[in-house]
Amino acid sequence: MAPSAPFNPPSANLPGKPFVPTWVPPPVTQQKENFAELSSIDLSLLDSDDPAVVDKLVQQVKVAIRDDGFLFLENYGVSLEQLHRQFSIAQYLYHNISEEDKQRLLFDPETGVWSGYKHPYGFKRNRGPEDGIEQFNWYKPDWQDINRVPTCLHPFMDEIEEFANYLTKSVNRRLLTLFSRVLELPDDYLWNNVQSHGSPTGEGYFRHALFRPVQKKTQEASKGLRMHGHTDFGLTTLLFSVPISCLQIWGRDEQWYYVPYKPGALVINIGDTLEIVSGGHFKATRHRVYKPPVDQLNEERLSLVLFNSSVGDLRMGPASESPLIQREGCIEEQGVYKEFKNLTSQGKLVPTNKQWREIQISTATDPTDQVRNRVGADQVLIDGKVMHQREYMGVKVVLPV
Ligand SMILES: [Fe+2]
Repeated sequence: MAPSAPFNPPSANLPGKPFVPTWVPPPVTQQKENFAELSSIDLSLLDSDDPAVVDKLVQQVKVAIRDDGFLFLENYGVSLEQLHRQFSIAQYLYHNISEEDKQRLLFDPETGVWSGYKHPYGFKRNRGPEDGIEQFNWYKPDWQDINRVPTCLHPFMDEIEEFANYLTKSVNRRLLTLFSRVLELPDDYLWNNVQSHGSPTGEGYFRHALFRPVQKKTQEASKGLRMHGHTDFGLTTLLFSVPISCLQIWGRDEQWYYVPYKPGALVINIGDTLEIVSGGHFKATRHRVYKPPVDQLNEERLSLVLFNSSVGDLRMGPASESPLIQREGCIEEQGVYKEFKNLTSQGKLVPTNKQWREIQISTATDPTDQVRNRVGADQVLIDGKVMHQREYMGVKVVLPV
């Protein structure tokens, strides 16, 4: 296999580009917290001429995505300087977006996509209690029409688009090659058969997010939660590791663990679709955004994420041509895979990928939404613990919030 080309973005100094103040990573926490110990994958080893090195890499990935569903990815082709430029642009967005653009580009989750600007007042178009989370999300139509992008970002769209292109078509494609090899399938199996294509993000999306510190009353109302526990609905999520520790993952021992900071690394997690395609051999791990350790409570958390989505019209089932699945069968006890298995065993069709995405987005709630989050609506109390209850076509699933 030819070595992968590194990221080569358009220049930051082209005529007409305003000065962008450099993003300075905030200090890491000094607190002792429950931190997850995740495997770190060196993606450049996929280009090795030594088959033993590549085999070892595939084995390492196999264990990480089965046991944790989360891993760090390093040496994937983007330098720390290039990455910090993208963070600087994201920071520039939140310092410069106009009130007019916030209104004009306001998101509408009822449509089944997050496209556009999310105000810091919950996950509905109409403002609810303040949650301090702003986002801008690029979907296919937003890449195609500059008028769907905040005006202050227009001079930088060449850099943002190339970055999203590189993440999808180089980093994610190589990652899917590794995952295809774990399933003992041809290198491009997942890329050709499951990953959606077209535009820099296919049917997925790219996000700039800013989590501002929240007021004490908000923190109390949400019990420290910034985003509920959930699994991602797509194939893979590529999230850049940041110094502010807020992301937590649900361990096999049923405890939440913070994901530690690894400068320049990507935090990768598996979405529902890949869990199903892999017959449960890959795990879509629950995760949430929680308040950071006490010494970071007053810091802003800037976040860049790429959500890769599958082809919307497909109804996912395990890749039965996988020798791994043929030999070892499916692992049925896990989250969404089990949920879909229940449907098929009742003779019902599983939702298409697009339907599944739309359900997740349009029913999303935020922790400060007191009306939607009251126990008895989409939450239930089990053994004194509040659990999230989700229902699809008559199948009830209960998961921790
Ligand atoms: Fe997520």
